Amino acid sequence: MGIATDSLADMDWQAALAALAWQVDMGVHEAVCDQPINRYDLPESLAPAPRAAVSAALKAGEAAPPAMPKALDIPAIARMAAGRAADLASLRAEMEAFDHCELKKGARNLVFSDGNPAAPVMIVGEAPGRDEDYAGRPFVGRAGQLLDRMLAAIGLSRGAEAPEAAFYITNVMPWRPPANRDPTEEEIAMMQPFLRRHIELVNPRILIAMGNTSCMALLGQRGILRLRGTWTEAEGRPVLPMTHPAYLLRNPAAKKDAWADLIGIKARLAGDGP
Ligand code: URA
Repeated sequence: MGIATDSLADMDWQAALAALAWQVDMGVHEAVCDQPINRYDLPESLAPAPRAAVSAALKAGEAAPPAMPKALDIPAIARMAAGRAADLASLRAEMEAFDHCELKKGARNLVFSDGNPAAPVMIVGEAPGRDEDYAGRPFVGRAGQLLDRMLAAIGLSRGAEAPEAAFYITNVMPWRPPANRDPTEEEIAMMQPFLRRHIELVNPRILIAMGNTSCMALLGQRGILRLRGTWTEAEGRPVLPMTHPAYLLRNPAAKKDAWADLIGIKARLAGDGP
């Protein structure tokens, strides 16, 4: 049942209100679509089968009951997409084409990575912020500038051509979360297959898990202030959890521990670390 929209356009508001009240009185309680459909005009093939015919067919076992829509297994879709990527360029393309993460809708750019993929050190951050979302590159804001200075202190830079003097950097999430909120566990889980493939393709000697989101994605746990500074293993290689540079900007006293962690990285790379 419905009112043709062209006749609606001719009505004044009292008439439209009266027509609406009439429909409510007649038991209409839901708007199904914007345009009314005159089902008497539909060709037979498109007209819905009369209800009695459907229940008779169901009773006779001729028609299957309507299937409940199945929930998509998004991490499985992500695993398949990530598995198709044979190199970093195709991994990036697979991530660009992945439409199951809500964060993508609110982001300007996919933030994939920066630095030298031949470097022995791969840093995994959390998620892009506003500056990274604009630039399409990870860690370019204030926290990123601090990170660059920290790594420069042990002789590493993202721009270095010589792999041994370089680092490579990415994030768990390639899209900026609204208002810089923490990514949810569901979001982390759906992007984890891409991160794992990213690590496989870069194949760094060591990983740095920078902050809680990164520890969640790589180690399955949070608690960066407890985890930091202790080498562990993930994705078949050593991982050092470190406090995020954004935390260090807010808590300068924690820079002392971060410095100890940097010395640990340098020693590891020289082959005489723990
Ligand atoms: N914080 C992150 O974890 N990643 C970025 O790219 C920027 C800030």
